[in-house]
Amino acid sequence: MADMLEIDFAALSAAPVGTLVVLAGDDMALGSAARGIDERSKGALKKAAAAAGFSGKAKSAVEILAPVGIDTQRIVLLGTGKAPNELDRLMLGGAAYAQISARKGEAASILCDPADAGQAGADVFAADLAYGALLRSYTFKKYRTKKPPEDGAEGEPARDGLTRLVIQCAKPDAAAKLFQSRKALAEGVFLARDLVNEPANVLGPVEFADRMRELTAAGLEVEVLDEDQLSELKMGALLGVGQGSERPSRVVVLQWNGAKSKRAKPLCFVGKGVCFDTGGISIKPAGGMEDMKGDMGGAACVAGLMLGLAKRKAAVNAVGLLGLAENMPSGKAQRPGDIITSMSGQTIEVLNTDAEGRLVLADVIWYAQERFKPRFIVDLATLTGAILVALGKEYAGLFCNDDRLAAELSAAGEETGEKVWRMPLGKAYDKMIDSKNADMKNIGGRFGGSITGAQFIQRFIFLKDEKNKMLPWAHLDVAGTAMDSNRTDISQSWASGWGVRLLDRLVADNFEKGEK
Ligand code: BES
Ligand code: MN
Ligand code: ZN
Repeated sequence: MADMLEIDFAALSAAPVGTLVVLAGDDMALGSAARGIDERSKGALKKAAAAAGFSGKAKSAVEILAPVGIDTQRIVLLGTGKAPNELDRLMLGGAAYAQISARKGEAASILCDPADAGQAGADVFAADLAYGALLRSYTFKKYRTKKPPEDGAEGEPARDGLTRLVIQCAKPDAAAKLFQSRKALAEGVFLARDLVNEPANVLGPVEFADRMRELTAAGLEVEVLDEDQLSELKMGALLGVGQGSERPSRVVVLQWNGAKSKRAKPLCFVGKGVCFDTGGISIKPAGGMEDMKGDMGGAACVAGLMLGLAKRKAAVNAVGLLGLAENMPSGKAQRPGDIITSMSGQTIEVLNTDAEGRLVLADVIWYAQERFKPRFIVDLATLTGAILVALGKEYAGLFCNDDRLAAELSAAGEETGEKVWRMPLGKAYDKMIDSKNADMKNIGGRFGGSITGAQFIQRFIFLKDEKNKMLPWAHLDVAGTAMDSNRTDISQSWASGWGVRLLDRLVADNFEKGEK
């Protein structure tokens, strides 16, 4: 990650630094500090708004150059719309950042004095605004040795020198405090984005695992399992995926024990980490194959989530497990028709070596249950192109054997804007992966490809509670959301870091209560 944008909080009365963004509500409603600026500038804000037909609509803007009576070169009046909710506030922060970075300057100020703050207090409003701006500020430029063009390539704005953002608000100390946990999460999002953006020549399974070791600095316990250990564990499905590659596979276990009782059952998050997916012997077509450097998006999200939980000292026990492998064709690669034995003992006929993600997950999910006896497992995987056909890029596919967990995930999705759409599971779909030659096959035929993928994973959930109820498990198919996803006010990069904020919210809303 490049240096993070520095964000400070100051009083409403502080002198602005650089471009000054001033918020205006619906019908050009101004807070008292903004009214003060309007008065000192002899009505420049209201005059400019009238001239431009600006009414304070959310994210609309007017620029006022060289205002009299105010010590700044420019003011950008930015609309908040009516009663912005949490997600609106984040997006507004992103929009403010975009206005600022489109102009020159090393520092800038936002006068966070909303006339219509909705449900939020001044401190929450300011912290959310700062969080949105920070998320927007991410760029991936480490391999660009030449000065970037003015507005950056591929829609990523150059952060042309902007290094410091000051949020002026009514309760700067309280806002700064609230911002801490948001900043922690942003670090998790940035880690996930960095990992997904990194090309596969630089980030193979070993390099990914090595980067995870660095997370001990944040307080995570990090273990890396090498191929000898994976063989010992009989992870034949995961190892089969990596066997065509010159680069060995790895499994990484990240632990955060923040609950009051260190022995409380943990939440388990499992990520597909295929560092590059050529398809193997069932090789993919050349067009767009470069995108398969992002086929470790699930694992990247789990890594980012675990970093975020540790940095904000979440009151929960959580384990992140990453299945890291590279899917390559070679003389050593597995072939269509090969039958492999997974850690569970179940045999799999590999009819298509490009349906590799489910093989990786099968073993890691089995291992997670045996070792950690978790409260639930949520897995994330860029599993199928079919989920893009079904849902496009707006929603990730949610497959879940537990209505409560599904509802909690859906609610967290609506709150964070990282939305999930529940898809069906059922016996009839499960039958589609029965095989004549083995316990199952790794593809289910032409139709319902995302569902048969999920059914496959479900065959590796075995834990039951005292009442014989299956372990709550959710599978998120993030093929459409983890990479090259829709650009938003808070995510402009090819890699979105999708899922870090969603799963953090799932944890915060449902599993930390009574722990503090
Ligand atoms: N990594 C791909 C899925 C994918 C496709 C992710 C597009 C992101 C964008 C996965 O390993 C894969 O190849 N899936 C196959 C499954 C099929 C062979 C049953 C697919 O979607 O075609
Ligand atoms: Mn594949
Ligand atoms: Zn894949």
